[in-house]
Amino acid sequence: MADLDQTLAVALKGYAWLPDLRRRAGGGPVRTRVMGQPAVGICGTAAARFFYGTGNLERHTALPSLVVHTLFGAGGVQTLDGDAHRRRKPLFTSLLTGDGVDRLAKIAGEEFDAAADTWREGPPVRLFDETARILARAVSRWAGVPLEDREILALARDCVAMVDGFATVGPRTARALVARRLQERRLSKIIAGVRAKPRTTSALSAVAHHSDDGSPVDPRTAAVELLNILRPTIAVAWYVAFAAHAMDMWPRHQSRMRAGDDDYTLAFTHEVRRFYPFAPFLGGRATRDLFFQGEPIPAGTLVLLDVYGHHHDPELWIDPYRFDPDRFLGREPGEFDLIPQGGGDPRTGHRCPGEKITIALLGTLSRRLAELDHYLPPQDTGITLSRIPALPRDRIRLVVPEHHR
Ligand code: HEM
Repeated sequence: MADLDQTLAVALKGYAWLPDLRRRAGGGPVRTRVMGQPAVGICGTAAARFFYGTGNLERHTALPSLVVHTLFGAGGVQTLDGDAHRRRKPLFTSLLTGDGVDRLAKIAGEEFDAAADTWREGPPVRLFDETARILARAVSRWAGVPLEDREILALARDCVAMVDGFATVGPRTARALVARRLQERRLSKIIAGVRAKPRTTSALSAVAHHSDDGSPVDPRTAAVELLNILRPTIAVAWYVAFAAHAMDMWPRHQSRMRAGDDDYTLAFTHEVRRFYPFAPFLGGRATRDLFFQGEPIPAGTLVLLDVYGHHHDPELWIDPYRFDPDRFLGREPGEFDLIPQGGGDPRTGHRCPGEKITIALLGTLSRRLAELDHYLPPQDTGITLSRIPALPRDRIRLVVPEHHR
């Protein structure tokens, strides 16, 4: 089975595909084929270290074209290697790791409060969709992107579509392709306008004026990179829906979030990102002949780092299928321990530069939700692991009774 092409199995089994394959092969690196190419699946802390080892793997030849044209965008930082990546990455690390993080979380908290006021005594709302809109409002305010209300709604819808459609072939992909085309076109125009004006301190201005080698990148590429800030910020809605799922399944976590301090909130956000599925695995291509745990990996082989498997491996986590924020209390995870957003150093490798923002937004909004008097009416909160990306099936419908907060 492992040597047959597994592309269809990935589509059918989703998050369980690579962990199953590894289990059946007895653990350790497992050889397989995906998209007609030889691949090796690896998992664990040493595997993450190997995956992010300097010069071991390249990305631009490893990413499927559909993923580039739905999720990432052509010419974006995810598709760059070596010097090109080194010149582009500081744009993100400088914008996404400093004072701006708290500012964005504060704005998102305000937008959540304003939205929650409109939920009172109304029909049930879908928390996932509401949160995507809250985050779209917050991040466009924060980045200085001038959008009218209807454009913000379209941005939220389109960014959700880009993330929702990257891992399948079918109507969701078609929707993602259209969404990307529309948003890239709209944002390119905004960027061209901003370039005609002097620089300001906004993220929009920084992206619009960014140059890799002295001359600004073309407006379409700048739009791709602006979307690389807007889209994943909106995607934090997935984690907020998962946080709501955890507080509904195990209500003691809601009480602890209400009563808890910042340390508990941080531990909770780490556990949401460990426990719930998002990126199933990451891929790179061996740039030269390599060895991992005694297994030869010839140049050109695809290397798949099993992210979902990593977070549910009993060798790495005590009782991995138990949702337990306490495992992170008083302990900051190391560079290769908790890898929902990649591993290693975000300044030099491909690790997500938006992790601080994700943690701040997820913490702020989970805390707000825990403090909001609400209930979940009967609904299907099940999560299908064969669907990438996964989400509670009814997207968390919730009701907010009047006069409470
Ligand atoms: C890269 C996950 C939020 C911006 C990545 C990677 C993952 C990831 C798995 C790839 C790491 C690799 O290829 O080695 C997530 C998840 C998020 C999230 C699950 C929460 C929903 C954010 C946010 C931002 C962001 C909020 C920006 C505001 C980026 C960028 C890259 C990236 C620009 C490309 C980095 C590079 O290739 O060097 N993210 N991310 N992400 N993320 Fe995030």
